[in-house]
Amino acid sequence: MTLQIRRAGVDDANTVSSIAIQTYTDTFGDSYPPEDLSQFLHDHYSPLPQRRELEDPQSAVWLLEDDGRAVGYLAAGPNGLPHADAQPGDIELKRLYVLASHQGGGHGARLMEAFLGWLDHPARRTLWVGVWSENHGAQRFYARYGCVPVGEYTFVVGESRDLEFILRRP
Ligand SMILES: CC(C)(COP(=O)(O)OP(=O)(O)OC[C@H]1O[C@@H](n2cnc3c(N)ncnc32)[C@H](O)[C@@H]1OP(=O)(O)O)[C@@H](O)C(=O)NCCC(=O)NCCS
Repeated sequence: MTLQIRRAGVDDANTVSSIAIQTYTDTFGDSYPPEDLSQFLHDHYSPLPQRRELEDPQSAVWLLEDDGRAVGYLAAGPNGLPHADAQPGDIELKRLYVLASHQGGGHGARLMEAFLGWLDHPARRTLWVGVWSENHGAQRFYARYGCVPVGEYTFVVGESRDLEFILRRP
């Protein structure tokens, strides 16, 4: 398998949207009533909000491609997580999704390394990550990069209220 990582551009909005919708549905879809899930996916992961993010010069998105077919992505931008120690200039890892067919093969790690290279150059910036309290695999994954829990907040999907941990890499 030959996988490549490249920075995504505005033209990748549809691709990024379809990866986000597929991976979110596969991973978390059973947690919500179908109408709440589809409204959430429409509001946040449909091509239009993805395009807005790709157009934002403060955002950065990396695509993982398998022989030219996108199979994962990582999106980062200005931190929006609610924490008293958050500072302007801090960065949030907004989403990290690898399609189920490609999980567990080290590809998430490769996306993370591409992102951290950008995050730490020219100066190391503080990283914030929000992760579902029940997503133990992702918590183990982020812990490998020095991300430690420092708080929590409530993530709203329709009528559902999820406990999310706030992780920080100083
Ligand atoms: C989390 C994720 C990006 C990691 O990418 P990956 O390519 O599967 O991970 P790697 O092969 O580089 O690293 C393996 C580690 O990732 C984590 N992991 C593996 N499969 C996972 C899965 N299905 N869900 C969550 N984490 C997973 C584990 O920590 C694993 O280490 P372990 O084998 O010691 O348990 C990917 O599994 C994924 O997209 N999961 C579903 C969506 C998700 O949970 N995203 C994070 C939201 S905050």
